[in-house]
Amino acid sequence: MMRRWTFYIALVVCLGFFVGLKFGIHPPIPASVLMIYMVLATLGILLFVAANEERFAAFLEPLKSVFEGRAPKVVQVLVLVAIPLLAGWGTWLRTSPTWDAPFEPRVVHPEPPSTFNLHGFPTETAKLKNPLRGVDPAQLEKLTNEGKTIYYQNCFFCHGDALAGDGHFANAFSPIPANFRDVGTISMLQESFVFWRVATGGPGLPKGATPWISAMPVWQNLLTEEEIWKVILYIYEGSGSTPRTWDEEVSHAGH
Ligand code: HEC
Repeated sequence: MMRRWTFYIALVVCLGFFVGLKFGIHPPIPASVLMIYMVLATLGILLFVAANEERFAAFLEPLKSVFEGRAPKVVQVLVLVAIPLLAGWGTWLRTSPTWDAPFEPRVVHPEPPSTFNLHGFPTETAKLKNPLRGVDPAQLEKLTNEGKTIYYQNCFFCHGDALAGDGHFANAFSPIPANFRDVGTISMLQESFVFWRVATGGPGLPKGATPWISAMPVWQNLLTEEEIWKVILYIYEGSGSTPRTWDEEVSHAGH
């Protein structure tokens, strides 16, 4: 009858849980959470097995036959060799050194330098203001549309066609490109900061921002200042956010 197989069925269900949790879930769950789920699943299976005396006896039978010496010699030897081997392997996995980079906290929005080189000229970061703001609405729309073209010619490969940081190449980079729809990126930044980030890219990040190995290009080598301001107009417009300002009026004008 089925009873003979109780132990093996329990084993298969347990393994099924493991495989499902480990490979069936995206994004993958952390190992510590997997551990908790597995302990709970195993307890649940044991509880089910133990709830019925007959079933429990059937479950224990294969174990008993090995440890009481009733099982074939080969099986006994295999089990007795496998247990220390598994324990040893687990310990080795936990203690062996890994090649993973050590965890280092990083500053996502580092303090901008007070001055930086723009086309070879030292420029004061705090004094930067988007010269394209303050024009009439029709003109602003035209400039923003030009910024959109610049965005889709230069930025969307990385920052994504919906500005969500998920362009074709996004996953090739660590750190991944900024998601402009996220409240933690451009919507909490002043335009002067954004200009500095776009103009100087990854290489312009200060020491405090290490260990950034940002793929963000140095756009001042490829775009004019005006083009950078235009694309900045677009990334705010396109992501539905407004730059941070210290002036309440302007900061909320878009809402
Ligand atoms: C090769 C891929 C790539 C391209 C192309 C690219 N970026 Fe980036 N960008 C990144 C990465 C990676 C980051 C995140 C790391 C960092 O902050 O440097 C980033 C960060 C940024 C940030 C900083 C956001 C923040 O919250 O600090 C801004 C602004 C930005 N990019 C604007 C642009 C604009 C505008 C363009 C097009 C002119 C562009 N990027 C093109 C890869 C790219």
